[in-house]
Amino acid sequence: MKTYFVSTAIDYPNAKPHMGHAYEKILADVRARWQRLLGDDVLFTTGLDEHGQKIYESAKLAGKIPQQFVDGQADLFKNFAKKLSISYDRFVRTTDADHVQFVKEFTKVVFDKGDIYKGEYEGWYCTPCESFWTEKELAEEKCPQCNRDVELRSEETYFFKQSQYQQQIIDFIKSGYVVPETRRNELLSRLQEPLKDLSVTRLKDKLPWGIDFVPDEKHVLYVWFDALNNYLTAGKDAYWPCNEHIVGKDIQWFHAVIWPAMLLSAGYELPKKLFVHGFINDKKGQKMSKSKGNGIDPIELLDKYSVDALRYYLLKSVTHGEDGKFNETDLIKLYNTELANDVGNLVNRIIVLSTKFYGGVINPAGESEISIDIEHIKSLYDQNAYHRVIEELGHYSNRINAYLNEKEPWKNDANRDVVLYNVLEHVRLLTILLSPCIPDACEKIAKTLGTRVSPVDKWKYGEEFYELVKSPLLFPRIEESMKEEFKLDLRVGKITAVEKVEGADKLYKEQVDLGDEQRQIISGIAPYYTPEELIGKHVIVVCNLKKAKLRGVESFGMLLAADHGEEIVVVEAANSKPGEQVCTEDMEPRRSRIVFDDFMKVKLEVQGKQLLADGKVLKSVSETISIDVPDGSSVH
Ligand code: MSP
Repeated sequence: MKTYFVSTAIDYPNAKPHMGHAYEKILADVRARWQRLLGDDVLFTTGLDEHGQKIYESAKLAGKIPQQFVDGQADLFKNFAKKLSISYDRFVRTTDADHVQFVKEFTKVVFDKGDIYKGEYEGWYCTPCESFWTEKELAEEKCPQCNRDVELRSEETYFFKQSQYQQQIIDFIKSGYVVPETRRNELLSRLQEPLKDLSVTRLKDKLPWGIDFVPDEKHVLYVWFDALNNYLTAGKDAYWPCNEHIVGKDIQWFHAVIWPAMLLSAGYELPKKLFVHGFINDKKGQKMSKSKGNGIDPIELLDKYSVDALRYYLLKSVTHGEDGKFNETDLIKLYNTELANDVGNLVNRIIVLSTKFYGGVINPAGESEISIDIEHIKSLYDQNAYHRVIEELGHYSNRINAYLNEKEPWKNDANRDVVLYNVLEHVRLLTILLSPCIPDACEKIAKTLGTRVSPVDKWKYGEEFYELVKSPLLFPRIEESMKEEFKLDLRVGKITAVEKVEGADKLYKEQVDLGDEQRQIISGIAPYYTPEELIGKHVIVVCNLKKAKLRGVESFGMLLAADHGEEIVVVEAANSKPGEQVCTEDMEPRRSRIVFDDFMKVKLEVQGKQLLADGKVLKSVSETISIDVPDGSSVH
């Protein structure tokens, strides 16, 4: 059996796990599950980087001794991995006894070879990144990686002679070790400068939290020299060389340069592939950070939505190797449309039909009538292009649905068994191919069909017998109201025609252009405007009100107008185009229909000439909505 070793970086447990940790673990889990489906003997590792100054200081802040602190954090991170359905085989903690032992042995090999020598270090240290920088590398006196303060350090240290491996490392990277190519080029360009040796120890009286440097126990090892070895701790016996390290772009240097140098020195084979992923940022594309308060807690999300929803969203919406934006509303939409509607409905339909016509028992019949290029899916998995995998499988699911629609087995009894058997076989294959991405859901589908998620190459049309099991709803829709949302769907409309409503003095019948649709709206503003004054105005329309009839005339929507006791003034958005959404910042407009009572629950008022909804300023893309009426005027 072929072995396959895939690893994530090991996380710093100084704080709670965040979305970046979740994303990386999911990427690695997809790889591990896919290789298992191909029949490989997989080792999948993840874990924690528990030594070093950053952890030492966090423990101090938490009022705990470091070991006690990391033990607590380890439980948190393991639980997190479980919630994400991460199927790791080994969780390496750098305080694990076998790791500590191995790191000591490894260091001794490198030392005995003459690749570690004593010297004096002077440089700038960034604790959050656990990295040294030279004066030249600093960005306006700050850490060039995270832009935080650095401190000058000058002390006795031991250096690792990585410089002598520079050419070998360049050749290795050129041979295709790093993907995607953009990352490879970044590294090669940085490697045009001569590589400096790396300080790999610190005096114990400065930092007492680390693995002893055996040749001189006044020193402890630099965290990175310790942490990178986690891969060997786990894989050295049966799974080396590692097939795929998965890490984020901020730590590619350590994995593409320092790590190979260490391995070359100690005489190990080099890993096969370094897949560098991008960053998950907030919905505006900005880095999530505690101080900005724009972080999204993945644990809270997992309590709110299913793990399938989160995995599906991250995998589908982020292009491999690139940065992604996290937007909760998009997560809900994607889940509801693609999982609940497309896949969920397909599975549901076939269960209903099979139960109705065959009591849920379907035996092999006919030939396969739906196509799927399995080799193409394999190659996409190979390239880590999971967003493309999901896209292709979406097309496949649509083809199965279309086949069912075309054959109409609920009407036609000719070949009904062949049609239903075809759909079942292809849903089974779809489930297998999708299972690395959303394993929990696929497991449930397989169970419902009375089958298992079996290795890809074991799927062969005509070999499975089905006995369907009744199951709970597979993908319950996420109620959009779970997300904080703006109840109103307000859009800019241009009034194109106005006429009086017969028999009603106050009412006008307006035709409004909303960009992609036309509406007829009745409003009681005839005493305040002539039709000519209204025609051409850009107004704001409440679009999600249920249709109503006024004096027998249909009205769909409402114009917003302010009432300050003496007259009624229509709210305008003169600088916005018809169709533009009007909303408060950071909220998502609702599309589903509401009744007038719901509308009345949103408090619309004017303050400082601005229009506010529940205290927040309303804006379109083009402008902040303003209206020249006294403060406190109500709007409806
Ligand atoms: N402890 C080191 C890794 C040592 S590996 C021998 C470390 N830890 S970390 O907790 O800071 O980061 C762990 C992983 O999460 C890294 O691969 C990092 O790139 C990734 N991410 C951290 N924030 C991220 C995002 N916002 N988005 C995606 N991944 C990012 O570095």
